[in-house]
Amino acid sequence: MKSEPAEPARIVVLISGSGSNMQAIAESCIKKEMDGEIVAVISNRPAVAGLDRAEKLGIATDIVDHTEFASREEFDVNLIRAIDEHSPDIIILAGFMRILTPDFVRRYKGKLVNIHPSLLPKYKGLNTHKRALEAGDKKHGVTVHFVSEDLDGGPNIIQAVVPVLDDDNAQTLQVRVQAQEHIIFPIAVKWFIEGRLSMIKGDAYFDNQALPETGLQLSPESIS
Ligand code: GRF
Repeated sequence: MKSEPAEPARIVVLISGSGSNMQAIAESCIKKEMDGEIVAVISNRPAVAGLDRAEKLGIATDIVDHTEFASREEFDVNLIRAIDEHSPDIIILAGFMRILTPDFVRRYKGKLVNIHPSLLPKYKGLNTHKRALEAGDKKHGVTVHFVSEDLDGGPNIIQAVVPVLDDDNAQTLQVRVQAQEHIIFPIAVKWFIEGRLSMIKGDAYFDNQALPETGLQLSPESIS
């Protein structure tokens, strides 16, 4: 008897804004670079560009507007409900600008992946490009990491390093960092779907090897 081909991995993407990382992952799925499908894009803000992008790609969208809930807990309960409707294998935070409750993070432990525009553990939180410039850093970049209860503190999966140029400002730096985001995020999602990534006792593993604190670190030359 022939076995049925496995269904593509079910990906839910949470966004708050432009959705360019979501689009990079969607395009990688469409090109069959990975065996996955974005089954829903959920935004905590109505009328953001990322929702339009998703609709153009034919992806189901949903809005769970955080301003409609009295507490963080209540918002997260409703977000969980919206996510679970789609039975995801992986939940991706792609520019999702909300602090999640410990209950939320525990529920999806090992299946929740975020992108953060700095070489974590440097510059957790906001305004990362400005902070890297003000510190006179010669290297900046972006990290994809598993989410833990510690904000921007879960174990790193992959980083892209971006050189800081003498005439950079926060915007020029951000543009070059984003170009790398669109490369490394689909790579990390593909690895996850292939079962090559896991989080065990707070550490990230790739092909059963514990990753270094940086995660796999790629320079632009090695991933272009
Ligand atoms: C990205 O720069 C990401 O690193 C940060 O938020 C931004 C989201 O961009 N967390 P987009 O919505 O994917 O275009």
